[in-house]
Amino acid sequence: MNRNIGPTYYSDYLHLNKLLDSQHAKSKEVGHEAHDEMLFIVVHQVYELWFKQIIHELKSIRETFSLPSIAEKELSKCVFRLERIKKIQGLLLNQLEVMETMTPMDFLEFRDLLVPASGFQSVQFRTIEIMMGLKTTDRIDVDREFFTGRLNDEDKEVINEVEKHESLLVLVQNWLERMPFTKFEGFDFWNSYRDAVEGMFKRDEEIISGNIASLTDRAREIQLENLKATKETFNSLLDEDAHNKLIELKKRKLSRTATLNALFILMYREEPILHLPYVFLRNLMDIDENFTTWRYRHSIMAHRMLGTKIGTGGSSGHVYLKRAADNNRVYNDLFDLSTFIIPKSEMPKLPVQLTDHLGFHFRG
Ligand code: HEM
Repeated sequence: MNRNIGPTYYSDYLHLNKLLDSQHAKSKEVGHEAHDEMLFIVVHQVYELWFKQIIHELKSIRETFSLPSIAEKELSKCVFRLERIKKIQGLLLNQLEVMETMTPMDFLEFRDLLVPASGFQSVQFRTIEIMMGLKTTDRIDVDREFFTGRLNDEDKEVINEVEKHESLLVLVQNWLERMPFTKFEGFDFWNSYRDAVEGMFKRDEEIISGNIASLTDRAREIQLENLKATKETFNSLLDEDAHNKLIELKKRKLSRTATLNALFILMYREEPILHLPYVFLRNLMDIDENFTTWRYRHSIMAHRMLGTKIGTGGSSGHVYLKRAADNNRVYNDLFDLSTFIIPKSEMPKLPVQLTDHLGFHFRG
């Protein structure tokens, strides 16, 4: 490798001429420069730069997860990269405060010049959403309609390309499905788990039916009905058909095997070999949550700036944004896993051969 490329100069290396000559206020063009338009442009550009970095990290994780098997060292690298995305998200959230130093009146000085441009057209934001696992068919109507409708042909092509790859959600599902631990030398974890859950429900039922003297008949009936509903939720996980039905209804995304294995990781995360997969899943949840928080904060900011005016991209404004914040969560299945966690004392004891397999052993 020839490393003799001559001296590097700071501004050449960073292409500062290009970067710092990329803030062109529309209001200046029309002969009445609005002071705050510079802030509006800079904040958006900084966001786009950080989006670029997030995509860079996600691409590398996607590459690792496309491999037929993932070595511990590679998984650890992915965990660090997810941590980096989380830190960037912290900045993205705080930057909204800088944007909010602009008053709604100052915004009105140049807002009409932006129409019909809008965050709807942020191809990088859409790329992140798609890479994370948000499907076009899962978007809410207005979002779906504006999704590519507002993009030029070049940007539509970029989105088409991104959609050709498997999303992180699908790749994580494939990885979870490959986990070998829940069936081990004649031991089927899920049979033991089912027994533990049934035992737990039986005890709950006995308590409600018999022991709580203070309950009226109606209160007892309601509690038993609630218990029945909880049992059905548990069954929906253990019964393949019930789980697939929920996928059809778009209430679950991950396959049953992947969901069960994620639950196993969550419950037995203290086993050394499961610790890193657990941190990986937890980071995915954090990132999903951080995007939701950003979307929600951005919707409040839009409310503050626009009141109930529609957006420059033509949506209903903050009402649309708030709905999208709730709808566009991707990793709900991981959040839902808490439903299926049982008390530590009731968790099936793993056979010694399996715990040996899950542990790290230092041999002299
Ligand atoms: C004065 C500040 C801002 C206001 C009033 C505002 C308002 C809006 C509105 C109303 C929409 C809905 C689409 C539309 O009808 O135009 C939107 C979408 C969006 N905005 Fe902003 N925005 C602001 C700043 C920002 C900043 C700083 C970013 C950072 C990149 C951003 C990124 C986005 C994105 C990505 C969308 C698409 C969201 C989605 O469809 O889920 N916005 N914005």
